[in-house]
Amino acid sequence: MRDFICAANWKLNKSPREAVSFFKEFLPIVETSNSRSKILFFVPAIDLWVSQEVLRDTEIGFGPQNIYSKNDGAFTGENSASVSKEIGCTHALVGHSERRSLFFESDELIAEKVKTVLEQNLHPVICLGESLEERKTGKTNEVIGRQLKAALSHVDSEKKVTLAYEPVWAIGTGEVATPEMAEEAHSFLRSQMNDLKGSAFSEKTSILYGGSVKPDNCENLAKMPNIDGFLVGGASLQVESFSQICTAQY
Ligand code: 13P
Repeated sequence: MRDFICAANWKLNKSPREAVSFFKEFLPIVETSNSRSKILFFVPAIDLWVSQEVLRDTEIGFGPQNIYSKNDGAFTGENSASVSKEIGCTHALVGHSERRSLFFESDELIAEKVKTVLEQNLHPVICLGESLEERKTGKTNEVIGRQLKAALSHVDSEKKVTLAYEPVWAIGTGEVATPEMAEEAHSFLRSQMNDLKGSAFSEKTSILYGGSVKPDNCENLAKMPNIDGFLVGGASLQVESFSQICTAQY
């Protein structure tokens, strides 16, 4: 059975002090629940150290929202995968649409980042998704197919990655994809993985949905056979809403 994953993307929110107080309230809630969800936190880089202090003896994974394709050198402002690993990170987010659009990350750079993350034995959560314009003009499969092919170009089929399908028009807008729309994209991604890397790879890879996930829509989305969890922005900032998403019975 594939992992069912509930991942928080805090984006540029929460100081180290706020992160610790969130975890202290959140942990007792999820530790006493019998949910099967694996929980991850993608926190601002400045919060990684305190996150490891609180999370290291738990089952919860965590990591940066972005890493660079090189581990060290003259790359002012970037995050290193090897240092993230050294301080106990388990995962790294790669290719979020905000990185692609606001920071001009190309498919090729994202492919290099995925490679570096895997070389450091971190688990990449690779984001992909189409814009509103691309959906309206019928290009959804073309766009996410291209993003997937590039992102997996240096990935060996024995490795483990996670995908996050995040239609750009659903991010932070309150407009959530219907379960059927998300399922259509997820099953397309699954079949593309099958063609690119074989059925074992495709079957073991969890595909998360992201874009306005809330406690009141997560259970319906999770009924779809190819939705293996969520990547949550806004609703991951409050303990109450994110713990409800993590402890729902899927
Ligand atoms: P929202 O849940 O705020 O729509 O953000 C989704 C997202 O971008 C998670 O990476």
